[in-house]
Amino acid sequence: MHSAQDAQIVLNILQARHSKRAYLPDPVPEALLAEILQAAAHAPSSKNTQPWQVDVLLNAQVKAFSQQLCEAFDRDQPEAPDYDYFPDPWPEGFLDRARACGFGLFELKGIGRKDFEARRAHNRENMTLFGAPAYLLFHLPRPAERGMFLDLGFFLQNVMLGLVAHGLASCPQFSVAGYPDLIRSFLNKPERLIVCGLAVGYPDPEAQVNTYVPERLPLEAYVTWHR
Ligand SMILES: Cc1cc2nc3c(=O)[nH]c(=O)nc-3n(C[C@H](O)[C@H](O)[C@H](O)COP(=O)(O)O)c2cc1C
Repeated sequence: MHSAQDAQIVLNILQARHSKRAYLPDPVPEALLAEILQAAAHAPSSKNTQPWQVDVLLNAQVKAFSQQLCEAFDRDQPEAPDYDYFPDPWPEGFLDRARACGFGLFELKGIGRKDFEARRAHNRENMTLFGAPAYLLFHLPRPAERGMFLDLGFFLQNVMLGLVAHGLASCPQFSVAGYPDLIRSFLNKPERLIVCGLAVGYPDPEAQVNTYVPERLPLEAYVTWHR
C-alpha cells in the first residue's frame, strides 16, 4: 500500500528530473549505482525480454572515454549514429521547440545566436560529458526494432528517476551516440547497437546552466479525452 504522501513524492521526483550539464567532481558510489540499476530493471518490456544493456564508466574510465570523444570531435569526424532520431521532414512544431531549447541554453550561457565559435564550444561540451564523474552507455542487440528502443527508454527513465531520488542528476546524450564505432571499440562490444549515453553525477549548484528547465506544452496540447 502506498500513501498519498508516497504518491506526492513520486510525482515530485518526476517533475524534479531535468538534464544537468555541469557536475561536481565528487565520485558516485558504485554500490548506489548498482542499487539504482537493479531497481530500474523493474521497467516493463514486451514479453519481459529486457532488451537493454548498460556499461558503467567510472572516474578515470570516463576521462579516457571523453578524451577519445573530444579527439573525434576536434578532427571533425562526421557523426554517424546507428539510428535516425527524427523523420525527415520533422513533424510540425518540433523545429520550434528544438530551437527554443537550444536558444534557451545559449542565453543562459551568454552565447549569441550568431556566435558560431561559442556554439561549437557548447557542442563540444557534450564530448567532455559535462565533467560528470560517472557515465552510462545504453545499447541493444542487433538487429533492433522500434519496440526494443521503447523498452530501453523505460529503463533509461527509471535510472534517471532513481538518480534524482538519491540527489544525483543526469543528462541523456544522443550526441555521444554519434560516434558508435568509437564506443563499440572502447567497450570492446563490436556487435551492439549504441542508443545513447547518460552523464551522471552530483549537479554543480553554482552552474547557471543547471538552472535551465525547458517549458512543457500544456496538457491540452498532448492529451485528448474521450468521455
Ligand atoms: C535520448 C535523449 C538524448 C539527448 N541528447 C542530448 C545531448 O546530446 N545533449 C544535451 O545537452 N541534451 C540532450 N538531451 C536532453 C534534452 O535536451 C532534454 O531532455 C530536453 O531538452 C528536456 O529538458 P530536461 O531533460 O531538462 O527536462 C537528450 C535527451 C534525450 C531523451
